[in-house]
Amino acid sequence: MDYALKTQDAGGKRETLVSAIRALGPLLAGERANISIALVCVIATSAANLLSPVLIARVIDTAIAHANYGALLRYAGLLAAVYVVSLGTSYLQTLRTGTVGRNVLFRLRNQLFTHLSDLPIAFFAQNRAGDLISRVNSDTDRINQFFSQALMQTFGNLFLVMGAGIMLLSLNWRMGLLAMVPALGMLVITRALSPWLKRTNRASLDSLGALSGDISESLANFQVIVAFNRVDYLREKFSAANARNYRAAVKAGVSSGLFTPLYTLAGSTGSILVLGLGVWLIGRHELTVGLLIGYLLYVTAFYNPLRQLATVWSSLQMAMAALDRVSEVLNLKTDLVRLPDAGGRGPQALLAFEDVGFSYPGGKQVLTKVSFALDPGRTYALVGPTGGGKTTTAMLMARLYDPSQGRVYLDGRDIRSFTAAERADKIGFILQEPFLFSGTVRDNIVYGHGELGGLSDEALGERIVAQGLEGFVARFHEGLATPIKNGGEGLSLGQKQLVAFLRAVLREPEILILDEATANIDTVTEQLLEEVLDKLPRATTKVIIAHRLNTIRNADDIFFVGGGGLTEAGSMEHAMDMLLNGDRDT
Ligand SMILES: Nc1ncnc2c1ncn2[C@@H]1O[C@H](COP(=O)(O)OP(=O)(O)OP(=O)(O)O)[C@@H](O)[C@H]1O
Ligand SMILES: [Mg+2]
Repeated sequence: MDYALKTQDAGGKRETLVSAIRALGPLLAGERANISIALVCVIATSAANLLSPVLIARVIDTAIAHANYGALLRYAGLLAAVYVVSLGTSYLQTLRTGTVGRNVLFRLRNQLFTHLSDLPIAFFAQNRAGDLISRVNSDTDRINQFFSQALMQTFGNLFLVMGAGIMLLSLNWRMGLLAMVPALGMLVITRALSPWLKRTNRASLDSLGALSGDISESLANFQVIVAFNRVDYLREKFSAANARNYRAAVKAGVSSGLFTPLYTLAGSTGSILVLGLGVWLIGRHELTVGLLIGYLLYVTAFYNPLRQLATVWSSLQMAMAALDRVSEVLNLKTDLVRLPDAGGRGPQALLAFEDVGFSYPGGKQVLTKVSFALDPGRTYALVGPTGGGKTTTAMLMARLYDPSQGRVYLDGRDIRSFTAAERADKIGFILQEPFLFSGTVRDNIVYGHGELGGLSDEALGERIVAQGLEGFVARFHEGLATPIKNGGEGLSLGQKQLVAFLRAVLREPEILILDEATANIDTVTEQLLEEVLDKLPRATTKVIIAHRLNTIRNADDIFFVGGGGLTEAGSMEHAMDMLLNGDRDT
């Protein structure tokens, strides 16, 4: 299955506002009270804003025109009260929507990360970490910004536009219609421009994802860059990616920024039209000065929220583009699911491959029709040329991937019918490239293991001695408490492999897979490691992948992996022979 995420707008199924609200609806659960309060506040603020032009028109026509100071004071008091109410409600609304936004963002990120961590290794092999970080961190925030701030503004502004529109039409319908003509033109233009707006925004987000992909890749490989003296090349590459992102952001900015001036122009045109008609009507004594001023205030009250709606509209296009990117991840379903145990028995062996074929997504066939069986308590060696498929075979054994053809059986059951926890209990895997987490050696050894994690330092120490592993712990200057930074920085590769070895062995798995686990360890430690392997419970099955032949001289069976197949080599001499011939073939 192909897990590669799109890194540009492919023009497929698009998120719409309705589908977005439906998708994000469950995240709003429990926010009903906050949303209701915010909505009431929005309406109250808008009503207060709509009331003030009427009051001002009245003040001018009654109090000021007739020099009635008592009425002037009364209206002034009333206006002040209206402003205070609108201030209070808008503050309360900001507080509540802020809370809703933070809660939604928190849940969305959790949901996205939980989903991500359910995806198979293939997904992480096909997508860049930086782009994923960008989707989890910044795209979710774009969505949040729209839903927490812009959506409430939309309600408030819609309410204001409708209120002002009704006032305009009811005070004088001819003047009202004239004031709205430019707005209608703008609506048509806005709709026509929306797809372009979303496309430029999507391109901007994608290039931001690519940029953070570049950053995380170079930071993770900085030693290589320095060793090959390619810092200049790196800077150039980064600066080119940064420039691409800059251009995409400019395009997105230009398209989004277009709306504010267009709507301002429409508002001014509306005002000028009203002013012209109003002055003419005043000349014919069909309108008062106060009413015209009030009217102009309503035109502003009509166009201001409309302009803000246009801004919200561009922020909506940005949020929709971000939602597209987030949904792409959420819509990916892992095919490494657990199958119900069909009960059908497979080969009577601890672990068996049956006609297994495998190719990486988009890659050539690595294994074809591979069949073998592993019995309890035996030691198996996998040898073969570089790139021959040893690690791939090991990953299929641990179900880090599913075979493209054929089946893998564990304990006579399809390996797909085991839960991940059952599998991890039975199979210990020491990866060719051990990965360590920040913390201490101890943290990395007990990593995520309930029972080991609960042990005191003494009890864990006793366990280590009981299994004859104390010699390995002695390889770290502060023992179990030795700090590990930044995925293993400050440790040698051999030390990293020792931590991975301790991690796997202490869990006492039934099958222990060592992928080149001794490649970077000194001879003395390697002997120690061999002794520990000998001391493992008799029933433990060992699968050892190694290039160094002395590592595998104690193996019961030797398999040769290469040329798409896996064959029993019989003896070490034969394995050597096959390796030499295999090398000649390739
Ligand atoms: N994630 C991947 N995506 C695509 N192709 C891959 C991937 N990992 C490995 N391959 C390809 O699969 C083939 C087998 O790789 P594998 O890692 O199993 O070899 P190996 O026998 O373990 O080699 P080595 O001795 O160097 O560790 C190689 O040709 C490699 O290019
Ligand atoms: Mg390998």
